[in-house]
Amino acid sequence: MNSALNHPEEKPTILVVGGAGYIGSHAVLSLQQSGYNVMVLDNLVYGHRDLLEPLQVKLIEGDMDDRPLLDWLFTAHKITAVMHFAAYAYVGESVTDPAKYYRNNVVATLTLLEAMLAADIKTFVFSSTCATYGVPQIVPIPEDHPQSPINPYGMTKLMVERILADFDHAYGLKSVCFRYFNAAGADPEARLGEDHDPETHLIPLVLQTALGKRESIAIFGTDYPTEDGTCIRDYIHVTDLATAHVLGLEYLLEGGNSDAFNLGNGSGFSVKQVIEAARQVTGREIKAVELERRPGDPPALIGSSTKARDVLGWHPQYADLHEIIRHAWNWHQKRHG
Ligand code: UFG
Repeated sequence: MNSALNHPEEKPTILVVGGAGYIGSHAVLSLQQSGYNVMVLDNLVYGHRDLLEPLQVKLIEGDMDDRPLLDWLFTAHKITAVMHFAAYAYVGESVTDPAKYYRNNVVATLTLLEAMLAADIKTFVFSSTCATYGVPQIVPIPEDHPQSPINPYGMTKLMVERILADFDHAYGLKSVCFRYFNAAGADPEARLGEDHDPETHLIPLVLQTALGKRESIAIFGTDYPTEDGTCIRDYIHVTDLATAHVLGLEYLLEGGNSDAFNLGNGSGFSVKQVIEAARQVTGREIKAVELERRPGDPPALIGSSTKARDVLGWHPQYADLHEIIRHAWNWHQKRHG
């Protein structure tokens, strides 16, 4: 057991890179609730300063490829571990502007890792994605499924996973990679939530439609080989993702080996089911328009997360789709209503 965990008065400090974003901010809250000191590094390109206000966390505004800034940060503060959420994550944009994705998601991450090693920080929790699997050969997808991304975004995440494996072997840097399925929902108390600009994700767009900010929600494709013809996804509550990060951190602090874990609920819902659930939760009419398929969408993505449950003791608390949407709805009404 790590000595820092034995002595609660010596709460380790965790640096959360990208902590002003959607998933990162929820991880900050979970870390604080578990007693950790937290610092955030975020360049606020997609993150929001005001999201962090209720959390009263120290925010350093800057880039993760600013090596002098990182060297100062790691010298001035005793950081025990780093969690890394700072990635560009628009799949379509990664196809049209791959340079931006490889530079930010891979090259900048390499700078961060090298600065960590220079400061002798060797505990790292990384946001990876189910997009590293590409088109699944079997569902639910297990962690040992071949990783064959079909877009540059997924490739950048896979490259970092490979870098981390090599860095463990060569430098002893221990990491946990979490391959998220579809992050959704919001803090159950609506202190935090999703606020992307531009927004491309299904649930927030459905809720914007319910709020009257959009006329209709587009259904991208109704001819998939699924029961109702629309794509199936595994929606996982962002608070459950955040909880997994704390468990992954503690697993490493207790001496666990580097490893990768899927984070999903293991059950899928179609686009039409999500829209119907949102109608029930919001009590609003939500007009849907059936359009062509969106390029690059696999018909069904469902993850097997038994490994995270068995190894980390992870138990998702908010697996119910209606509850996920209700929490997102509470947040959207507060933020945008
Ligand atoms: N969809 C619509 N209408 C919309 C938006 C989305 O029908 O207006 C559909 C999509 O076609 C897809 C489903 O809703 O079938 C979910 O789409 P999202 O954009 O919400 O999420 P994705 O499954 O495309 O993306 C998620 C993560 C990505 C990750 C990807 C892996 O957000 O970061 O899974 O495939 F890369």
